[in-house]
Amino acid sequence: MLTFLFKMTIFYVFIISSCLLNHVLLEGDPDMPAIARYFNTKGRYEEVNPYLREDILAVNRFILPSAQCKEIHLTAIIRHGTRYPTVKSVKKMQQLYDIVRHNASGEQSWLRELQTQWTMWYTEDMDGRLVQKGVNDHKHLAVRLSKLFPSLISEEHLRGGRIKFITSSKHRCVNSTLSFKAGLTELWAIKDMEFDHAVNDALMRFFDQCTRFVQEVDNNPSAAPELDKFKQGPEMRRVQEKIADRLGVPYSLITQDMAKAAFYLCAYEFAIKAANSPWCQLLDEDDAKVMEYASDLGEFWKRGYGHDINSKASCILFHDVFKRLERAASENKSGQRVSEAVTIQVGHADTLLPLLTLLGFFKDNDTLTSDNYAAQAERSFRTSLMMPYAANLVMALYDCGGGDLRLQPLLNEKPVSFPGLSTDQPASMPSYQDVRERYRELLHGCDFESECQLVKEPAGV
Ligand SMILES: *[C@@H]1O[C@H](CO)[C@@H](O)[C@H](O)[C@H]1NC(C)=O
Ligand SMILES: *[C@@H]1O[C@H](CO)[C@@H](O)[C@H](O)[C@H]1NC(C)=O
Ligand SMILES: *[C@@H]1O[C@H](CO)[C@@H](O)[C@H](O)[C@H]1NC(C)=O
Ligand SMILES: *[C@@H]1O[C@H](CO)[C@@H](O)[C@H](O)[C@H]1NC(C)=O
Repeated sequence: MLTFLFKMTIFYVFIISSCLLNHVLLEGDPDMPAIARYFNTKGRYEEVNPYLREDILAVNRFILPSAQCKEIHLTAIIRHGTRYPTVKSVKKMQQLYDIVRHNASGEQSWLRELQTQWTMWYTEDMDGRLVQKGVNDHKHLAVRLSKLFPSLISEEHLRGGRIKFITSSKHRCVNSTLSFKAGLTELWAIKDMEFDHAVNDALMRFFDQCTRFVQEVDNNPSAAPELDKFKQGPEMRRVQEKIADRLGVPYSLITQDMAKAAFYLCAYEFAIKAANSPWCQLLDEDDAKVMEYASDLGEFWKRGYGHDINSKASCILFHDVFKRLERAASENKSGQRVSEAVTIQVGHADTLLPLLTLLGFFKDNDTLTSDNYAAQAERSFRTSLMMPYAANLVMALYDCGGGDLRLQPLLNEKPVSFPGLSTDQPASMPSYQDVRERYRELLHGCDFESECQLVKEPAGV
């Protein structure tokens, strides 16, 4: 018991110190936008794990319940790395840039810098492609995970074909997968072999193939009325007015889209070029929190808890993950070598967020709505922390001796507990059996085909 308390103390000290570090680094660093913590899905992974700013290959080893625990399988579901803006965003950025050049009348030096020195270098053909920083995101993640799980992500397993790669067909995901592999082959200087990956959109882009989700949510303009109301509401209007005041333009010119373009110009300049760009002067921290909430509202209603089908669309991926765990567990139990030691699956925020929701992560007591912005200040559903570029969920299966199987989930490389799974196991690593019990209903149901069917409207309604 004493050693357990001691271990937990170490664990908390680590968490607390990394929070303090975060604060100190952000306050003190002129190279970082003051609003870098609020960029939603356009944020850097380093803002979620600030120790990486010092050493991008640093890992935080976590504490195993006993020295006997040996890892037997790992599945990682990873979002693609840093990317360029999509065509739609580039068009809006161009529009804001034109306003700044032709209509802005302020005298501030950052404004003059935008007007005379900054050039619009984003082009439509960049359309969401992976950038060099995104290549590095995945190379570095590969190296860190191999340090964290050396007996699984090993040269021997890679050469033996026991590390499997699965990706969404989208170019940024394929390139992220190639980058992850390159991280490993460069680490071990492997030049005599190449390693395959499978493209599987049924698994990694289930959201496109779930008819009910597509019709009722994704293509339904009224699926997120709370977001629409918030965009028209007082908090957002204030942000737009403040931006217009800073630029010295009529309020009518700074629409909600233009405010978003300003926010994301700051985000992209930082994520792609590591620049604290003059665009960041257009929003202060209060403004950024409002922009962050607007985006979280959208994710909540279109990918998260807002509609049941959002998470149910990921049933196919949920079952796939547990099928792999189950196979590894039974192979190990029956004395066979585990045939697939590691599965690396690369997809989108739209892949990971529904799955995390299905598993019950980041669920707050109250629904995110247009009129509870202030009350939601401490919400856990915060995409800036959950879903930066290269966000990842790792499920690591351990044998802790004598068939005592444990399952450790890690979110963005931090050990977490499965929501609603009370456990008296040390260091919060639950038994695999308890996890299966926790998700029993989903394991016995959650059928993609039936969940994703369109529900027939009753006649006469
Ligand atoms: C903004 O500038 C453009 C180009 O100079 C001009 O046509 C337009 O009228 C201006 N809009 C406002 C509201 O000043
Ligand atoms: C991504 O892949 C495409 C083709 O597969 C290649 O042309 C492009 O250069 C790659 N981009 C990066 C950043 O690796
Ligand atoms: C099963 O896993 C345990 C823990 O890693 C290991 O000691 C054992 O050798 C594995 N069994 C087989 C057959 O690989
Ligand atoms: C959420 O609800 C539970 C149960 O009603 C309560 O114990 C808990 O304190 C609430 N949490 C917050 C943050 O309000």
